[in-house]
Amino acid sequence: MNRKEFIKNSIFLSAGITVTGVSGCSLFDEKEMKLTTEAEVKEKGFVIETFNRKSVLITYLDEKLTVLSLICRHKKCTVKYNSNKEKFICPCHDGIYDKYGKVLSGPPPGPLRRFKSEVRNGEIWVLNEWEESA
Ligand code: FES
Repeated sequence: MNRKEFIKNSIFLSAGITVTGVSGCSLFDEKEMKLTTEAEVKEKGFVIETFNRKSVLITYLDEKLTVLSLICRHKKCTVKYNSNKEKFICPCHDGIYDKYGKVLSGPPPGPLRRFKSEVRNGEIWVLNEWEESA
């Protein structure tokens, strides 16, 4: 490969990484990760962890293990969970979601997304795939 071809290939590679970064996935994302344990979630009610550099909340909703992305559907700010009110509040434009991640008010165009998750020997694992809309 000569210098000109190397530069051309580098530009294509950079563009590819940038495009995947914009879509929310990157070449460096984990496909799955252990986040916590069933025992910890049951004891505390919910646990907030980081998966692929973004916050997620792990809890049981109607006895179903749920891993909610804490990334607002409007402009991708990180929402805060108010456990007393059982609501997620986005600090950027006052979007409010209920405990299921459903939009109550504000500009978010859709509910908080849910990651697929599994329990393996008492450990809670998250998969880098969205659940179907709840
Ligand atoms: S980014 Fe959350 S309401 Fe705008």
